Amino acid sequence: MANVKLAIVYYSSTGTNYQMAQWAEKAAKEAGAETKLVKVPELAPEEAIVSNPAWKEHYEATKDVPEATSDDVEWADAIIFSMPTRFGNLPAQMKNFLDTQGGLWAAGKTINKVVSGMTSAQNPHGGQEATLLSLYTSMMHWGAVIATPGYSDDSIFASGGNPYGASVSVDQDGNMVEDVEGAVKHQTRRTIDVASRIVAGS
Ligand SMILES: Cc1cc2nc3c(=O)[nH]c(=O)nc-3n(C[C@H](O)[C@H](O)[C@H](O)COP(=O)(O)O)c2cc1C
Repeated sequence: MANVKLAIVYYSSTGTNYQMAQWAEKAAKEAGAETKLVKVPELAPEEAIVSNPAWKEHYEATKDVPEATSDDVEWADAIIFSMPTRFGNLPAQMKNFLDTQGGLWAAGKTINKVVSGMTSAQNPHGGQEATLLSLYTSMMHWGAVIATPGYSDDSIFASGGNPYGASVSVDQDGNMVEDVEGAVKHQTRRTIDVASRIVAGS
């Protein structure tokens, strides 16, 4: 299998998507991929962050995680994006990151990146699929190769059966409801597998 460089680009306010990103990184390393785990820049004002104890705690705990840059996108053969659902859509932080890649896009450097998305929401039908479709709309403009899980493994059923990408709901205390770890790891291995075929054929 060709060596694959995988960037895991995430946004998380209260830790759910950070945990999913960490599971993805673990699975990727086990599959022999080179990895970068990077967070997109925060945009919310400090007052908003500190007024929510869970957000403040997570923000401080992940201060040392490197911020995602265009260099990471250029470096990667494959990218897994993980972000919470916000009003049935991408969080502004992730959209801002995508929107600041116009230079790479114009230079043709987003073409053939293999991409896949993961998300979370408070409700089981709170917009997870819409969030992933929003991501994938931008990815079509990138000329990226979208690698969704479909129903390619039993782990997808255990996590709630989202074929667009691994997703999980979180309860009032911020705890994940479904068992999504297996689906995250399967999606990661599948993304790497698709990317390795593209790298090998290039
Ligand atoms: C501004 C805002 C909008 C949200 N919109 C939705 C939504 O549309 N549907 C839903 O089920 N949950 C919604 N949530 C809940 C988040 O999706 C949930 O807190 C998030 O998935 C947790 O991920 P994180 O721990 O990685 O931040 C929203 C939360 C905020 C703060």
